[in-house]
Amino acid sequence: MSTATMQKYEVRPYDLTGLEGLSEEQIAQHKKLYEGYVNNTNKLLDETRKMLENGEADGLNPYFAELKRRFGFEFNGMVLHEYYFSNLKAKGGALPAGGRLARALEDSFGSVENWMKDFMGVAKMRGVGWAILYQDNRTGKLTNHWITLHEEGNVAGFRPILVIDVWEHAFAVDYKPTERGKYLDAVMKCIDWAKAESRLMGEDELAKNRQMVSK
Ligand SMILES: [Fe+2]
Repeated sequence: MSTATMQKYEVRPYDLTGLEGLSEEQIAQHKKLYEGYVNNTNKLLDETRKMLENGEADGLNPYFAELKRRFGFEFNGMVLHEYYFSNLKAKGGALPAGGRLARALEDSFGSVENWMKDFMGVAKMRGVGWAILYQDNRTGKLTNHWITLHEEGNVAGFRPILVIDVWEHAFAVDYKPTERGKYLDAVMKCIDWAKAESRLMGEDELAKNRQMVSK
């Protein structure tokens, strides 16, 4: 009998009422999909733990290997939705000028306008995925990334600062598949900029992170 503490994730609650341009039904559907990622993450943890106990944790066992491959998809699906939902709010307004995030964007992109052009460029890429503003966990610099299938394209250790879901399920209730631009116009008016800014790492944390990869 194993003495390890069972790891289990809970579905987090998000109050997303009153988002202009995103209906309650749209959000309800999206939350259901998010719950699926939490449940599947727990299922994978449970299944692989049982396999370990039964002596089946072997890379040559295709069932074990496939479950481990699914880890990246389900875990990142859960976590990215949590970043996305928590960086949304009703009446988000514009990014506050002169704040820490605005200054960090200016430092990395020259101007907030430049950053937005690049970010929207990423968000309109063909295919389903995520547009994510990441902070390099060692230099503190900001870059925009395209993430496919939740697990492909994330940089290890980088901190998500702003996460936008551009899978069609994120807007299919309210918009046509060809109307991603309309969804983006709506969702960018529902950003909790204070939340995004709160995710930025400071110099102390960056220095500690640099230590992790230096001799
Ligand atoms: Fe999603």
